[in-house]
Amino acid sequence: MSDTPFHQLDEILDGIEAAFPDSIERLSRILAIPSVSTDPDRTDEVHRAAIWFRDELDALGFEAKVVETPGHPVVLASSPAPEGAPTILFYGHYDVQPEDPIDLWDSPPFEATVVEDSNGGRIVARGAVDDKGQVMCFIEAFRAWRSTVGTLPVGVTVMLEGEEESGSPSLEGFLDAHHDDLRADVCVVSDTGMWNAETPAITTMLRGMVYLDVAIDGPTHDLHSGMYGGAIANPANVLAAIIAAMHDASGGVAIPGFYDDIVEPDAETLESWSKLDFDEAAFLGSAGVTAATGGERDRSVLERTWSRPTLDANGIHGGYTAAGAKTIIPATCAAKISCRLVPGQDPDRIEQLVMDFVTARLPEGFTARFESHGSNPAIVVPPDSPWLAAANDGLERVYGRPAAIIGTGGSIPAVGEIQQRLSMDALLVGFGLDDDRVHSPNEKFDLRCYRGGIRAHAAMLAAFAGTSAP
Ligand code: BES
Ligand code: MN
Ligand code: MN
Repeated sequence: MSDTPFHQLDEILDGIEAAFPDSIERLSRILAIPSVSTDPDRTDEVHRAAIWFRDELDALGFEAKVVETPGHPVVLASSPAPEGAPTILFYGHYDVQPEDPIDLWDSPPFEATVVEDSNGGRIVARGAVDDKGQVMCFIEAFRAWRSTVGTLPVGVTVMLEGEEESGSPSLEGFLDAHHDDLRADVCVVSDTGMWNAETPAITTMLRGMVYLDVAIDGPTHDLHSGMYGGAIANPANVLAAIIAAMHDASGGVAIPGFYDDIVEPDAETLESWSKLDFDEAAFLGSAGVTAATGGERDRSVLERTWSRPTLDANGIHGGYTAAGAKTIIPATCAAKISCRLVPGQDPDRIEQLVMDFVTARLPEGFTARFESHGSNPAIVVPPDSPWLAAANDGLERVYGRPAAIIGTGGSIPAVGEIQQRLSMDALLVGFGLDDDRVHSPNEKFDLRCYRGGIRAHAAMLAAFAGTSAP
């Protein structure tokens, strides 16, 4: 075991402060590349973003390459471990969500804009916090170690994915093909949030997900709603009624069997969540609302978002949606339906339950079409690993307080794949805030979070250097 090189940390942190304007500049450059993985017209841009990260890591002394997959490429880079030190696999994603609705942005989504505010400023662009800004947190921490100390204190492997926002379809194959290159002691993921701007967080529960396109077809063509209305069921009305029937009056999901296999968090976990001083008003405020009107009303908001499953229509489309009035019974209507899953729920089974629920409610002669956009199970990270303790040590040195141990309602398919395929623990340390407008117009990353994230990663590297596998 090598010495924990905390004695160099102050100097490294000073270096990070001095170079912070350059860190902002570099983040701005990668934010300018519209690497939207779900948009087939942006394939070249996604590739360009991969090359940008490869070049950046190459310049930092990593052996770095862009590895093609059946989908978007993975950036893979490595820097060997000093004698006796562990190797850490850093995961992040360089793809971003689509920018629409574009009219609602106050500045161009792919032009990083630094806005002054009472929190020390923020950088606004698609991908600012999800996940380019967070990837840059660890890359800038590597840079600081190199420029101050000359080397990294641990072995580092970097794996940056370009398909996270489209469900990571190529990752499984990639992990199997590169199993040996990816050998490490733990995987650090920077793609989640802090507890609040002053309190870092380590996330130990992630929800899973299933995502289905559902289309309901009725008449063979759009019908005059005066001639046929009243005689023939309307696919839009039918779909709306089915979606409405998916929840009961108390906010629970009414699909039979939906809750059957759930493994609830243990009493200790629930107790620790109840001790977190959750600012419900601030959370609701970050969504622009005043009440927690969704989900199971008899559960706390933290449970409802962290450890309870949900079902949502992400969009409903069909029929006439342009200006003015057009009187039709549309031939078809469709919705995008997703479920967030919790431990115990099998994604394939839940997907089948949703399809069965729809099919059982179709009027005679109507049909339903389903297209799955992939699924992934919920994830639990063991809270008692030495890596988590080391990360917490590093975080505490930077923030002056220990990390909150939290859950999150979001999903990161890669985490489950890494746990399974690489038999490796994951450690989720992120720097986003609730009001970052993730996946929404005017996505931002507070500069205080960017700075803190770089500092924290620098400190965690030192802490990992003094840690070994149990
Ligand atoms: N970084 C998010 C997940 C997340 C969001 C974690 C908020 C913590 C707080 C990730 O990029 C994401 O958006 N994941 C998708 C996964 C999906 C496309 C398979 C999600 O959760 O919707
Ligand atoms: Mn993300
Ligand atoms: Mn995302």
